[in-house]
Amino acid sequence: MAIFIDTGNVEEIQKYLRMGILRGVTTNPTILLKEGVTGGWESIKKRMGDIAEMIAPLPLSVEVTTNDPDDMITEAIELSKLGNNIAVKITVHGPQGETENMRVIHELETVHDVRVNVTAMMSAQQCLLAAMAGATYVSIFCGRVNNMGYDSCNEVARLRRLLDEYDLKAQIIAASTREILNVVEWLDAGAHIVTVTPNLIEGMIVHPYTKETVQMFLDDGAKLKL
Ligand code: E4P
Repeated sequence: MAIFIDTGNVEEIQKYLRMGILRGVTTNPTILLKEGVTGGWESIKKRMGDIAEMIAPLPLSVEVTTNDPDDMITEAIELSKLGNNIAVKITVHGPQGETENMRVIHELETVHDVRVNVTAMMSAQQCLLAAMAGATYVSIFCGRVNNMGYDSCNEVARLRRLLDEYDLKAQIIAASTREILNVVEWLDAGAHIVTVTPNLIEGMIVHPYTKETVQMFLDDGAKLKL
């Protein structure tokens, strides 16, 4: 059971790392773009290398920026050299349903000794095949699954049963978190990991009734010292 943080923001990672509540970090190109990472491939590698070093030995997931099979392998090998805690994210297939990605995943894990986080998956069956291909992590975008009108908890529970039954090593990352409630419901359903945005982690900690209760203790504590 683990919480990863889904961000490329160094300060946010540092903040929650110091609290001892993180077990890893996930990023993707959209997250890095929102974080204002500019300067191309070298800047991506610099930011990722810095984060990998900061959180080691906790794992950092970094995504390739291409869907060309040869280029994915080249980028993945380069990214994996940034630290031995790097997992490289490869989407389960390409934007047009290109299935060569599965071969890339298998080759990275078995030939190049690169840990792979297979990403952008929406169903247990996609995750099962990615796990069979040798993935270290299988990321199911549960928030997006719910958005499409399907029950992400069922998918996660079914997937976990299959992974356990067939003794597949892949760890399930429930991703695309939308609500605070998602974290416990997905862990409860069988996810090994839930990756959570910083604002939702804050929301998990802070409760309005706790605020009120703490204020009562402080007020009464002050009165005791009068
Ligand atoms: C997971 O690893 C992804 O980075 C992320 O959770 C995707 O979330 P989104 O659906 O908000 O893009």
